[in-house]
Amino acid sequence: MIKTIDVKSGETAGLYQYLSAAVSPRPIAFVSTIDADGNKNLSPFSFFNVFSVNPPILVFSPVRRVRNNTSKHTLDNVHHVKECVISLVTENIAQQVSLSSCDFDAETNEFEKAGFTEVKSDIVAPSRVKESPINFECKVTDIITLGEEGGAGSLVLCEVLKMHIDEDVLDENNAIDPFKLNIVSRLGANWYGKTTKESLYEIAKPISRMGMGIDKLPQEIRNSEILTGNELAILASAENIPEKKEFSLREEKHITEKHILAKEFLSQGKAEDAWQILL
Ligand SMILES: Cc1cc2nc3c(=O)[nH]c(=O)nc-3n(C[C@H](O)[C@H](O)[C@H](O)COP(=O)(O)O)c2cc1C
Repeated sequence: MIKTIDVKSGETAGLYQYLSAAVSPRPIAFVSTIDADGNKNLSPFSFFNVFSVNPPILVFSPVRRVRNNTSKHTLDNVHHVKECVISLVTENIAQQVSLSSCDFDAETNEFEKAGFTEVKSDIVAPSRVKESPINFECKVTDIITLGEEGGAGSLVLCEVLKMHIDEDVLDENNAIDPFKLNIVSRLGANWYGKTTKESLYEIAKPISRMGMGIDKLPQEIRNSEILTGNELAILASAENIPEKKEFSLREEKHITEKHILAKEFLSQGKAEDAWQILL
């Protein structure tokens, strides 16, 4: 059974739950801004992502409160002072970040309330967060208002002027190591995601290679009742059907047995052997 939601007649609070739990996990922008009087603000936003590399653009969205249709201080601030620092949220600071999301009044400095250390930025007026390993100093280039009712978001387009990365999260090639970074994500309700060895895995897709596609697999493989769509996709990521080689395990095996063995090889990352048993 499929539950279908007619968004026009649904109430906003319910829709909020479904949308935010469905579109997940989301990265979290920890946004530092100042108001026209110089009051500091620091708040998390998981309606957030990177949308362009050249120019480098990050976008986050403060949403008007559903319960009383008020706007977030962060949004008011970027309308007046068009700068911010976006910091990324790692496991060791996630509870502090959650604390900073309380509805403190505009004069309250969440750096102090949630126990963060301010570091003066190089280019922009808002401070960066010492405890976060990655900070982006940004210029707010545009704010796109999506509505006036409770639940309406505003897209805050932020051009990155400077990026600060703690070298402790880099690997030997100077690339960001996901396990050293330990980024936290937001799901629905009170759920957060960690970056653990158990939850991450790699899908090899060398950019130089063009997979043949599932439509090009021999029918017998494509219609397998044993191999899943994911497993067929691994086989179909090969450029061509490989050449049949001597492969003792293949001999006198029924098709079902071959598919079971191929499944086993694929689970061990041995795509070449999976192909050989199937040929
Ligand atoms: C992890 C996390 C993610 C959040 N994401 C958003 C979001 O994307 N949009 C939003 O409007 N509020 C979001 N919130 C709630 C705001 O952080 C909260 O309303 C905060 O008080 C806003 O502060 P401000 O009024 O000082 O800007 C989030 C809260 C947490 C803890």
